[in-house]
Amino acid sequence: MDAKPARLRLHDLQLAQGNRTVLEHIDGEFRDGAITALIGANGTGKSTLIQGIMGMLKPIAGRVECRVPRERRAWLPQQLALDLTFPMSVEELVMTGSWPSHGALKGYCAAHYRRGREIMARLGISHLAHRPLGELSGGQRQRALLGRTLMQEAKLLLLDEPFANVDAETVEVLMTVLRDMAKEGATIIVVLHDMEQLSRLADEAVVLTGGHARWVPVESFAQPGGTLPVPFLSQAISGVSAC
Ligand SMILES: Nc1ncnc2c1ncn2[C@@H]1O[C@H](COP(=O)(O)OP(=O)(O)OP(=O)(O)O)[C@@H](O)[C@H]1O
Ligand SMILES: [Mg+2]
Repeated sequence: MDAKPARLRLHDLQLAQGNRTVLEHIDGEFRDGAITALIGANGTGKSTLIQGIMGMLKPIAGRVECRVPRERRAWLPQQLALDLTFPMSVEELVMTGSWPSHGALKGYCAAHYRRGREIMARLGISHLAHRPLGELSGGQRQRALLGRTLMQEAKLLLLDEPFANVDAETVEVLMTVLRDMAKEGATIIVVLHDMEQLSRLADEAVVLTGGHARWVPVESFAQPGGTLPVPFLSQAISGVSAC
């Protein structure tokens, strides 16, 4: 266990959508340099928690303590919520990752372009650099969006179902980049529905059920009959397809 408190901690957090409380008494921390999987059945509040952590949803009670500077926080929303019809190329999207720290109106220098090209190569999307976002497949779009967070040098990265409708090869590329980012110290939270992906990617897991969150060891998911009580686990993942 680290002696230093984690950069992201939740203190008795309560979040609501409309007038209805979705989550309450959420207490816990997300380890620096680790990938935490956020799991739970549909409607249990995974996206709500992410909105709360990003400050887009004001808590009803409690607080989010986040010591990552705003310009280093990134969020990849659930795919369905994305509107990428904005006329912009893949390269332009990746380059916007420099805006939070560099500013949107200053233009880019040669070093920015060089870094953008390196990032696109790392994600296997160099050949798509000038392709408009509206003409990308789901997996290509996810690679480009992750490229933007690399450009941003994100130290807190929240991904809401990043592998939905993404082919196996793209999942591998995205997982490798996420693991590298965690190794470099980023705090990563990823909403997942697939237990196999969870056991391969995550260091920790948080299960949402009945309005509460529970931090559980990843091994609980890897082994049948692990430390997590079976009824709790089935309740947590019920209604979730093995995509
Ligand atoms: N904008 C909104 N207004 C009112 N209620 C909402 C809103 N967004 C979500 N909810 C409700 O809040 C609850 C939690 O929703 P949330 O989207 O956080 O669930 P989720 O765990 O992300 O589900 P999924 O796995 O389907 O993405 C659900 O009951 C949902 O109907
Ligand atoms: Mg969701």
